[in-house]
Order: sequence, then structure tokens, then C-alpha cells
Amino acid sequence: MKVIAINSTYRPKGSTTMLTRKALEGVASTGVEAEMIMLRDHDIRYCQNCLKCYRDVESELAPCTIDDDVTGILRKMLDADGLIFASPVHNGFLTGLMTAFYERAVWRVCKPTGELAGLKGVPAPRSTKVRAIATIASAGGMPEKLAKLCNDGTKFIRENMPMSFNGHYVGEIYAGADLVRMPASDQDWQRLYFLRRVSDRQLRMAYDLGVKMGQTLNRGRLKPDRVLGGFTAAMAKLYMKTVRLYNVVGEKEGGDEARASVSPPEPTRPRASTTPRRSRTP
Ligand SMILES: Cc1cc2nc3c(=O)[nH]c(=O)nc-3n(C[C@H](O)[C@H](O)[C@H](O)COP(=O)(O)O)c2cc1C
Repeated sequence: MKVIAINSTYRPKGSTTMLTRKALEGVASTGVEAEMIMLRDHDIRYCQNCLKCYRDVESELAPCTIDDDVTGILRKMLDADGLIFASPVHNGFLTGLMTAFYERAVWRVCKPTGELAGLKGVPAPRSTKVRAIATIASAGGMPEKLAKLCNDGTKFIRENMPMSFNGHYVGEIYAGADLVRMPASDQDWQRLYFLRRVSDRQLRMAYDLGVKMGQTLNRGRLKPDRVLGGFTAAMAKLYMKTVRLYNVVGEKEGGDEARASVSPPEPTRPRASTTPRRSRTP
């Protein structure tokens, strides 16, 4: 069995990497193989929204027009039994790198055949294998007690990754700003990130999360998490039945079908026509 940690930090020796390494030590202590993938070391380009992956509902890993390292990473993730998503807290969320990676991943590992409380066309995992999933978030300024107010990244992973990778959510850690000392002056407060240290307590939390993941895998019987509880789902279904959600505007307005049926967009190039265009302004 194998656990892969997807680390989206920009600093290879920073707090996220220290915590993720510890978590993987915990995983390894249970006899499960562990590997960390540093997204920053890979060629990961932006999604072009050409919808090539979205149109394919057959493949376990849908194709992509961009030839970079994402396919290799996703293959490893699909082969893995457990996935840890690790990110620094940036602007109260994940790093741009994690978000860019997930944009590239979502319709390749999901197909738009899912249903959520009566709303069809939502992502459903393509793979049937159930994987253990966990999250590591590392913050520079916000203490643990304020995590709920200033960390939407963990919530995003908790709600989206089990759905995308057919996951059983094992747990999470939020490593807030444990400080070497309390700031003594305004100037100190302005340099809060520099007072932040990864504490032994946080490293223990990371190790324990890794152990928990390994033990969960060794026990087996993983069950994919449902996004909505039974009662919420029933209420949402009722709402869907009684409220008109979509405004139907007709063919004239055009949908994305036109774009989906042509080849993917190419990088910006000069216009073929040299005829001067008539200005729209009078
Ligand atoms: C652009 C940027 C935004 C940040 N936003 C937050 C934030 O919203 N909350 C917070 O507590 N720390 C924030 N930080 C601090 C990082 O979370 C902190 O430095 C973290 O430990 C970085 O992880 P690393 O050591 O793996 O790079 C931010 C840092 C940067 C560079």
C-alpha cells in the first residue's frame, strides 16, 4: 500500500514540508509506503478550459491537451491508496499552485455524471478504488484557535478531494502560528510571520495524522464520504423540486457546446486577416 502527499508549498524547506515529512514518517511507521510530490518542482501549466477532459465520460483518467507533468502525477495519485494534501495558508485559502493543479485535475479524475441533491452534471469520481484522504495546512500569522475564521483551504480539500478521488476522509491538521515569543511591539506584530516556528506539538500532530492514515489503510473497509448528510440532501432535493433554478435563455445566446465541439484553443497568435476592422464606436 502507498500514500502520496501532494505538497503545494513554494518553500522546499518550509513549515509545510517539515509537517508533511513528519506525517509521512507516521505513515511509514505503520508499514505503508510513503512518497511526497513537491508540485513546485514540476511543470504544471494553467488549465485552458478547452473541455477535452470534460467531454470524455469513459476513461478512468480523461485526456488533456496540455503535455506537462500533470498526467504523471495524476497516474501516481490514482495508483495510491492514500492521499495527503498539504498547503500553506495563503490569503486564507490554499496556494495558487494547489488551486492551479486541482483545476487541471478535476475533470480528468471526475466525470460530469454525478448528482447532488437532484442537481445533475456535478463531478463524480471516475475511479472506483476508495482512497484515504487527509489535509495539512500550515499558517504563518493565524493561531489555531482562529482556524475556523481564516482557513477556507482545509474546508475546500475536505469537501472536494473525497468527491474527486473517491475518498474516505481520515482527518486534518491546521498548524497555526506557534511563536518563538509573543510580539512585544507593533513592529514585532508587523513581522509576525518571522516569529512563527513549527513546534514539537505540531510535528507530533502531523506524525499522529500519518499513523492514523496508515492504520486506517491497514484496517481496510474504507467508505467514500458523501458530501451532504441525509437530512440536508432531502431538504435540498425538496428545494430543487419547488424552485426554478435555471433561466432558460434559448439557442440564440449560445452555450459552451460550440466551443466544446471545436479543437482546443491555441496560444494567442496574430490575426489572419489584415483588413482594417470597422470601429464600433461612432
Ligand atoms: C502570499 C501569502 C499569503 C499568506 N496568507 C496567510 C494567511 O492568510 N494566513 C496566515 O496565517 N498566514 C499567511 N501566510 C503565511 C504562510 O501561511 C506561512 O508563511 C506558512 O508557514 C508558509 O508555509 P511554508 O513554510 O511551507 O512556505 C501567507 C504568506 C504568503 C506568502
